[in-house]
Amino acid sequence: METTVQHAAPSAGLSKAFLRNKIFSLLGIFPLGIYAIVHLYGNLTSLEGAEAFNRHLESSRSGPFLGILAILFIWAPILYHGVLGMIKLKQAKPNYGTFRHWENLKYLTQRLSGIGIFLFLPAHIFKSKILPTYINGQPADFAHMVEAFSEPVTLTVYLLGTLGVAYHLANGVWQFCIGWGITTTQKGMNRVQAFAIVLFFVVLAMAWGSIWGFLR
Ligand code: HEM
Repeated sequence: METTVQHAAPSAGLSKAFLRNKIFSLLGIFPLGIYAIVHLYGNLTSLEGAEAFNRHLESSRSGPFLGILAILFIWAPILYHGVLGMIKLKQAKPNYGTFRHWENLKYLTQRLSGIGIFLFLPAHIFKSKILPTYINGQPADFAHMVEAFSEPVTLTVYLLGTLGVAYHLANGVWQFCIGWGITTTQKGMNRVQAFAIVLFFVVLAMAWGSIWGFLR
């Protein structure tokens, strides 16, 4: 009887950690990755000028991601993925001391970009949402973004922050496919790797393209 209890405890703990990791990885893609892509694609309207960007913002403010849906599909996943990511980082064993393996370098870069996003996202939400909407009483518009990007520090933070987002998301897709058993063969892994590289450049082009729209 006692033996059974002793064996049951660690396995229950293990399956909890397993489930937590699966949810963590799933939320990184659905909805967070999808949200980032949709958000960055929408921001590309900056390339069409002030009127198009402001129209885009107005329509997104009356879109589906409001109220309870925003909490469920944006804020709760950001909090869960961000906080658990930081906890995982703290618990990680330093097994990447030498960069002999490409995988180790990717693993380290995934974690470094995670830290970058953990710092970038609150700064971005403060600068583009809280400051204009709740402190200045005038929600962000094209002119607000032009002014923001005229500050070298802000511009640098956005360029680096979105570089981190592009890497973290692209490599995250690769990790997700392996972690969820979607890719099991070497050939499959190579295909996902190629897809991840394309995704990295697409996300980066959308982010830097929309920033360029405010700088021209
Ligand atoms: C080129 C880079 C980016 C630009 C120009 C940009 C622009 C904006 C703007 C203007 C807002 C305010 C929207 C409003 O007031 O309705 C906003 C909000 C937000 N952005 Fe970004 N963004 C960028 C990158 C990102 C990235 C990479 C993420 C990560 C997923 C992100 C996540 C968010 C979130 C969560 C909000 C708050 C949503 C809300 O409550 O309306 N942004 N962004």
